[in-house]
Amino acid sequence: MYYTLAVLTALASSAAAVGNAVVVNKCSSTIYAWSVGSSVGTKQTIATGKNFTEPLHSDAKSGGIALKITTVDDGLYNGSPQQIFSYSLDGASVWYVYDLSTAFGEPFLGKRITVTSTGSPSIVWANGSNPGGSQVKVGVSGVDVVFTGCA
Ligand SMILES: *[C@@H]1O[C@H](CO)[C@@H](O)[C@H](O)[C@H]1NC(C)=O
Ligand SMILES: *[C@@H]1O[C@H](CO)[C@@H](O)[C@H](O)[C@H]1NC(C)=O
Repeated sequence: MYYTLAVLTALASSAAAVGNAVVVNKCSSTIYAWSVGSSVGTKQTIATGKNFTEPLHSDAKSGGIALKITTVDDGLYNGSPQQIFSYSLDGASVWYVYDLSTAFGEPFLGKRITVTSTGSPSIVWANGSNPGGSQVKVGVSGVDVVFTGCA
C-alpha cells in the first residue's frame, strides 16, 4: 500500500497518542466480540446500547488485530457468521489502517453497519452486505475507530 508524502506528513504531525477500537451495539439483541491477534481474547458480551473498548494495539506475532463479532453466543466457535473489524498500526503508531470483512456469512445482513473515525473516511454497509470495492481506510492515531452494529 502506498501513501503520498503529503498524507504521511499530515498523519505524522498529528497526535501520537493511541486511540481506542470500539464495538458499539445498537441492535435490539446482544452481540459478541473477540479481540484476536496471535491468540484469541476472552468473549465480550455486548448488550444492546453497550460497547466494548480496547486501546488500539499491535500483536508481536500477528501484527494486526481482528475484532471478530457475531450475533450468536459463542459464534466464533460454532461456525456462525462473523463480522471482522480489523486494524493494524504502523511501527510508530502514528496512523493505522482499518477494514471490514466477513467470514462464514454476513451476521448483520439487512442491518446498517459502519466503521467511523473522526477526520477519516467511514466504512458503511447499508444493509449489512459488503458493497464491494476496497474497504480499507486510513485513520489517525489518537482518534477512536468505532464499529457500530445496527447504526
Ligand atoms: C462506550 O461506553 C462507555 C460507558 O458507557 C461510554 O462512556 C462511551 O461513550 C461509549 N462509547 C461509544 C463510542 O459509544
Ligand atoms: C444490499 O444493498 C446493495 C446495494 O444497494 C444491493 O445491491 C444488495 O442487493 C442488497 N442486499 C440485500 C441482501 O439486501
